[in-house]
Order: sequence, then structure tokens, then C-alpha cells
Amino acid sequence: MPRVNGPRVLRVDVLRPTPGALDEGAAALRSGQLVAFPTETVYGLGANACSAPAVERIFAVKQRPADNPLIVHVHSLEAAAEVTARITPLARELAGRWWPGPLTLVLEADPGLPDVTTGGLSTVAVRMPGHPLALALLRAAELPVAAPSANRSGRPSPTTAQHVVAELGTGVDLILDGGPCSVGVESTVVDARGERPIVLREGAVSREHLGLGTDDAQEGDVRASPGTRYRHYAPACAVELVAAGDGVARASRLAQQGRRVGLIGFTAAHPPTRTVAVVRDAADLAQRLYGALRDAEAAGLEMVVVEAVEEVGIGRAVMDRLRRAAAG
Ligand code: TXA
Ligand code: MG
Repeated sequence: MPRVNGPRVLRVDVLRPTPGALDEGAAALRSGQLVAFPTETVYGLGANACSAPAVERIFAVKQRPADNPLIVHVHSLEAAAEVTARITPLARELAGRWWPGPLTLVLEADPGLPDVTTGGLSTVAVRMPGHPLALALLRAAELPVAAPSANRSGRPSPTTAQHVVAELGTGVDLILDGGPCSVGVESTVVDARGERPIVLREGAVSREHLGLGTDDAQEGDVRASPGTRYRHYAPACAVELVAAGDGVARASRLAQQGRRVGLIGFTAAHPPTRTVAVVRDAADLAQRLYGALRDAEAAGLEMVVVEAVEEVGIGRAVMDRLRRAAAG
């Protein structure tokens, strides 16, 4: 089929995925193509994790630094065992509790995995996503699928198929459109090689969920995952993070100074400040954050003021992303 105006997008019923769409996605992955698909967190840009040329295309399309490794998506713990050297007792326990779901486990890699997939590290990140369409695709492809978020490097992750089209255009061969993602921020990345989990990236599964104290300073705070070194999650407009309750006043002051400003917060803004999103709580902000940042960008705003959430549960991941977006 000719692709004059953009990538091929297949709308799929998430609860009853049509076999045709799954077969097409699986065949594309097996032939080395790039397939974007929804997960419960964000949309991923998938390729056969065992094919170096296919994975190289991911890096090219995303303009991703070569030393930032990818997460390998699997449909079962058995499939995870095939890309890792050893499933530790801790990994088995965490997978038992959280898979399928938004938890990524870093383990010793199977030596057969291409270097491009692991960024040349001896470890590999694996996750079994908790999204019916992603799982059905992984089962149909019968392949481990390397999939970073389907955005250009440094940009907010996509949470709808339309975001993927806007980010990558014809750089992606096929997009499976399963509607908006439910969680909205990326998975928690945990080093599961030792006896205790070490959080490398905050995500939907919080430290509290993992049974780690909230102010329990961890090795992971300094030894973050490679990706956290880079500029991240930044839209084209500036992001300013303010305390909850301060957003309306701060945005109004900026508007008086002649700035084209928007607000993402718990209450609506006063015109001329644009209300970009009114959110209920941290989980609601997580789900809508990246889309709201894109809306702010599309509205041509110079900056967007975002009200902080409490740093508990998913609020930690949201604040982590917001700080990085604000630093962008
Ligand atoms: O929710 C998610 O995790 C999404 C969906 C698509 O599954 N994927 C995602 O991938 O966020 P990406 O590539 O945008 O982020 C992967 C993160 C990066 O920070 C990367 O450095 C880290 O995982 N990572 C990958 N392999 C690693 C490893 N062997 N050791 C430590 N960190 C690793
Ligand atoms: Mg990413």
C-alpha cells in the first residue's frame, strides 16, 4: 500500500484485536520492520530485539544515542529467560507480583543478544507489558521485541497513535492504534540482579509498591539508568514547575508580562492564560501529562506552568518527568 501521507495506521479493538492486524504486525516485526504499538504506559517503537539491523533502525529513527540501551518486551517469564543469562530469585518474585505490568527488570543479558540492543552493556532490561494488544502482538510475533518510547530522543513520550505519527511520520512502518495509554508515564526500571531491588528510573510501580521506604536513600539514586543522563521529556515550549495552588497566580503574572502562557494544574486559569489541562490528582496528571505538553506546544505557547503533585506513589514518577522537562 502506498504511504504518501504518512505511516500505515491500523486501528485495533484492544479487547478483541482482529487477527489480521496482529498477523500484519507480527509479520512486519519478523521481517525487520518497525512497528509502533500501545502499552499501558506509553507507545513503544518495536523491532526484533535479536536483529541488529532492525534495532539499528530504531536508533536512527529516534536519533537516540547509541549508548542508551532499549527495553526488551516479552510475553512471559519464560520468554524473558531466553534473553537473560539468569532469572534471579528477586526477579522471579517481582515478575510474579507485577507482570504483566509497568515494571522493567535489569538482569544479566544472554550473550547472544546484539550489542546494539543492550547498548554494549552486559545487562538487559526486560518487561512484560500489561496491555492486551501489546501482549497479543508479542505472542503472535514469537519474538522478543526491543521497544523504546516511540518519540524522537529527548521529546515527551507518545500516549496516542496520533502522537507517534506526529513524532516519527514515515520513519515507522506500521502503527497499531489501540487508543490512549492508561498509565501515561514510562515503566519503573529496577536492577533485579541482587537481593534487593534498586530503582534506576521511577515509574508507575512506586518504591512504596516495591516495599522500599520512601526516604530510603538508595544506590539507584546515584547509579541511574543510562537514559536518565540525557535531556528528556521536553516539549518545544518552556516548562515551569510551581507548588500546588500557586499555578494560577504565577501564570497570571507571566501573562501580565506579555508571555503566551498556559497552565496544567488543579484549577482553571484566568484568561488570557490558557487552561491546558485541569487535573484531579497525580494519577490523572500522569495519564495526561505528555499529551498536555504537546497541546501546549501545538497552541504555540511560549511556556506552560505546571502544578506539582505530592511525591508519593506515581507522584514520584510524575515529578521526576516534570523536573526533567523543566530542565530541558
Ligand atoms: O514504559 C516503558 O518502559 C516504555 C514502553 C514502550 O515499554 N519504554 C521506554 O523505553 O520507556 P525507553 O527506551 O524510552 O526507556 C528505557 C530506559 C532508559 O532510561 C534506558 O537507559 C533504561 O531503560 N535501560 C535500558 N536497558 C538498561 C540496562 N541494561 N541497564 C539500565 N538501564 C537500562
Ligand atoms: Mg523514552
